[in-house]
Amino acid sequence: MRTTCDGHPGRQAAYGTGARRKLDKVRTDRYGLVIAANRLPVDQVTAPDGTRSWRRSPGGLVTAMDAAMRDRTGAWVGWAGDAGTAPEPFTEGDLRLVPVPLTDAEIALYYEGFSNDTLWPIYHDVIVPASFHRAWWTAYDEVNRRFADRVCEVAAPDAMVWIHDYQLQLVPKYVRAQRPDVRIGWFNHIPFPPVELFAQLPWRRDILEGLLGADFLGFQRTPDAENFVRACRRLAGLTTRGQLVRTKDPDGGRLVRAASVPISIDAAGLDALARTPAVRQRAREIRASLGNPRKVLLGIDRLDYTKGIRHRLKAYEELLRDNVIRPPDVVLVQVATPSRERVAAYRELRTEVERTVGRINGQYAAIGSAAVEYLHHTYDREEMAALYQAADVMLVTPLRDGMNLVAKEYVTCRGDEDGALVLSEFTGAYQEFAALAGRRNTAYICNPHDIEGLKGRMAEAIRADRRTRRSRMRALRAIVAEHDVQAWSRTFLAALESAPSPADAAR
Ligand code: G6P
Repeated sequence: MRTTCDGHPGRQAAYGTGARRKLDKVRTDRYGLVIAANRLPVDQVTAPDGTRSWRRSPGGLVTAMDAAMRDRTGAWVGWAGDAGTAPEPFTEGDLRLVPVPLTDAEIALYYEGFSNDTLWPIYHDVIVPASFHRAWWTAYDEVNRRFADRVCEVAAPDAMVWIHDYQLQLVPKYVRAQRPDVRIGWFNHIPFPPVELFAQLPWRRDILEGLLGADFLGFQRTPDAENFVRACRRLAGLTTRGQLVRTKDPDGGRLVRAASVPISIDAAGLDALARTPAVRQRAREIRASLGNPRKVLLGIDRLDYTKGIRHRLKAYEELLRDNVIRPPDVVLVQVATPSRERVAAYRELRTEVERTVGRINGQYAAIGSAAVEYLHHTYDREEMAALYQAADVMLVTPLRDGMNLVAKEYVTCRGDEDGALVLSEFTGAYQEFAALAGRRNTAYICNPHDIEGLKGRMAEAIRADRRTRRSRMRALRAIVAEHDVQAWSRTFLAALESAPSPADAAR
């Protein structure tokens, strides 16, 4: 997995004798648990002498898989991130990595095209228009078949297969066709759209059939699972009952269950990292280098149009214009992680965000005190933890987001029970917090389309007193600590293990 705001690059893992034993154990051809995700959880690093090696990226997903693989030997099938010949399968820690090659053309058609310029906009409320090209679909289908072939080659008899995300929606069907013995689960990291939007896809039936190859389908929010079930009923004419969809397989069909299993982060690991003296010291340095302003506002996002960065900047600019806040008292740090830069909508967004930042600074900054500190970079976990600690107000304002792990990371890094989270109601994180702690007592909830409302929530968060900040932060931290990524993977695998069997379908 490449570095994103949801999965950070990090330290090189050190492997002792115990780990070596485990490593030998996994040198088998077949695995009891097979993960398939578009990206492998590794980054390629080049040493000063020019030698290249792989470094594991300790993002949330890989930590979850560690927990899942404690009792099983596991393999991870995915793309290594470059075009051309894929490296031979290799072992990293206790994980067997099975690279899937993608050509330049496939990266353009399957990844940038169908995944990120057709599905991504449709699944995120068509914030930008989706493009439909038959050649993109053909490449998507071919690459999904290739992923399925690799999965089938490495899955042990009766293995569990866990497929991830919108890039691989046909893999469940193609795996089932070859390997009816394995249990197949799929988890969607992004929203699943309402049927009216999903219906725009010329290949909507194929996608539903692809997913229905699974035994269990996991979604971030209950409305996502409901959207899927409704699409099966309305667009594929299938019979549904609650969370269950009956397929049209021979002998009366199978039952496929669709339910929400919201993803999370490695809360204990991140909390421990954030408490280290080095991270705390770095947080102080960050504030000092910003000129020790009274309030530091922070946004950390992949540079993606779903994240509401433009809305956030507009609200911030108006607060400056209205004299509600002023530098050097207040500064906004906006980290925008580079993302999908060969897709036009992403390039346009970058241009617009950078123009707006320039305008705001031109108008409101003074020498030595910017109004917006804009960083188009990727940072490691330590730096992110320090940034979170340095921020009085965290701005998470997506127009649509399956979960938003930045919100969970922020509260986890606030072991001091300080800071305030401004959170869009269009995130999975909001839904989860609201369900578990009630709407009133946690984050500062906003609708990012409502600029007046967003300004009000930002001002409220800036002015909140210490007692209010502490009680809200405590509630949020308790939720994330309990519902961590390890709990998520246990819940998913338990749901997959207990998914309906063909015998249930006959009843
Ligand atoms: C989202 C998706 C992931 C994806 C990540 C980064 O979180 O759910 O599947 O890996 O964005 O995007 P990229 O296109 O760089 O993999």
